[in-house]
Amino acid sequence: MKDLTPERSSLDPIEIASRDEIEALQLERLKWSLRHAYENVEMYRTRFDAAGVHPDDLKSLPDLAKFPFTYKSDLRDNYPFGLFAVPRAQIARLHASSGTTGKPTVVGYTAQDISHWADLVARCLRASGVKPGDMVHNAYGYGLFTGGLGAHYGIERLGATVVPMSGGQTVRQVDLIEDFKPDAIMVTPSYMLNILEEYHRRGLDPRSSSLQTAIFGAEPWTNAMRLEIEAAFDMHAVDIYGLSEVMGPGVANECVETKDGLHIWEDHFYPEIINPETGELVEDGAEGELVFTTLTKEGLPVIRYRTRDLTRLLPGTARTMRRMEKITGRSDDMIILRGVNVFPTQIEEQVLATGGIAPYFQIELFKTGTMDAMRVLVEALPQAGDEASRAAAQRMLTKRIKDVVGVSAEVLVGDPETVERSQGKARRVVDHRSKG
Ligand code: DLL
Repeated sequence: MKDLTPERSSLDPIEIASRDEIEALQLERLKWSLRHAYENVEMYRTRFDAAGVHPDDLKSLPDLAKFPFTYKSDLRDNYPFGLFAVPRAQIARLHASSGTTGKPTVVGYTAQDISHWADLVARCLRASGVKPGDMVHNAYGYGLFTGGLGAHYGIERLGATVVPMSGGQTVRQVDLIEDFKPDAIMVTPSYMLNILEEYHRRGLDPRSSSLQTAIFGAEPWTNAMRLEIEAAFDMHAVDIYGLSEVMGPGVANECVETKDGLHIWEDHFYPEIINPETGELVEDGAEGELVFTTLTKEGLPVIRYRTRDLTRLLPGTARTMRRMEKITGRSDDMIILRGVNVFPTQIEEQVLATGGIAPYFQIELFKTGTMDAMRVLVEALPQAGDEASRAAAQRMLTKRIKDVVGVSAEVLVGDPETVERSQGKARRVVDHRSKG
C-alpha cells in the first residue's frame, strides 16, 4: 500500500489548530446555533421554555448539558418541514430517509449548508488520502439518501474527478473501475464485498486494480473487515461517519496515516456522549450514546440530537479535533440474548476470524419455546465446500461466538452465494420473533 499521508499544508488550518482555538470557535458558534433554533423553530422554543433554559444561559461549552435532547421522533412528528429554521423557499435541497416504519424523516439544506457539507466531505477525502486531480468512483446511492449526493459535492469541491456510479449494478461497477481506473472508491463496506466477489467471478486480481483507498461508511464495520478488504485489494480502507439529521456523510472521518478512529469535524458539530438510559453525560472516554449539536446549520439546526450510535470520545492524534472510536452499533440493533448484549459487529469479527467461510453473514432471531435464540447464516468458500471443511468451520464459528461473544448461537454454513447480499446498507439482523 502506498503512503497516502496528506501534506500538512493541504489541511484546513482549523483541523490542526490548538484546542483553545477550536473551543473558542465552538462556543461562539454554539451560541449562534441555540439562538437560531430558539428564534426560528417553534419546537425548540417550546422545549427550552418548558425546561426553563434560554440560549443566553450558555456561557461555556459544558452548559449545553442543561438543554433538552432532540429525537428522531421529533422529525417525524414535525413532518415534513416543521423543524426547518428558514422559510421553505431558502431550502436549496431536501433529502429523506426511506421511512421503513412510519413517516420518513425529511432534512433540508440552505445553499450555505450544502457548501459547508461539500467542504467537509472534501476534508474527509483529503484525510483518506485523496488529492485534487484524483478520480473517485462514487458508489453511494444517489437520490433521497444523503450518501450519493453528499459524497459527490465533496469530490467536486476537492477538485477530483467524480464517477457518479451510485449503488447497484455490480457488473457495471467492476467494468467502470477496470476501464476508468479510479484512485479511490466511496461505498458501503458490505457492498464492497459484492464488488470483490465480481472480481473473483471474472478471475481478475483485485490487487492489481487502480484503487488506492476506500472510504467506507453508512453502516457499522469492524477493523477485521478493514484488514480483509485492504488485503484483498491492496488498498487503504478508512471510515467515514455521518447521519442525515446532522448533515449526511462527512461528520467525522478517519485519517489514512493513523486509522485510529474518526476525527469529528468539531468546527461544525459539537459531540457529547451520554448514558442512553439516564441521559447523563458519561465520564471522559467512557462508552455511551453519541449526541450531536450542529454549530453552523441554517436549514435544520439540531440541538443535542440522540443518534442511538454507541461509541466513545478520544483525544485527537493526526488532527487536534477529537476522535470517536469506530461505532460498535446502534442501540436499536443491540440483540439481548438471555441477558447478554450482542452487536452484529461482534459476530462480524468472529466470522472473519474463521477459516473456510466467506465474509458474508446474516443473523436470524427466533423463539424456541419462550426463549430467544440466534442463528448465524454464513457460507462456505468455494474451495472449502466439502462436508468435512464445512463441519469444521461450523464448529469453529460456534465455539468462537460462545467463547468470545459469550452466547450460544446455531451456525449454518450454507452453499456459496446463499447469504443475502448487501445492496447498500447490509441487513444484518432478520427478526422472526414476533411471528412466534
Ligand atoms: O448513512 C450517511 C452516510 C452516507 C454516512 C455515506 C457515511 C457514508 P443515514 O442514512 O441517515 O445517513 O444513516 C445514519 O448510519 O446514525 C449510523 O447508525 C450509521 N452509520 C453511518 N456511518 C457509519 C459508520 C448515512 N461509519 C446512520 N459506522 C448512523 C457505523 C454508521 N455506522
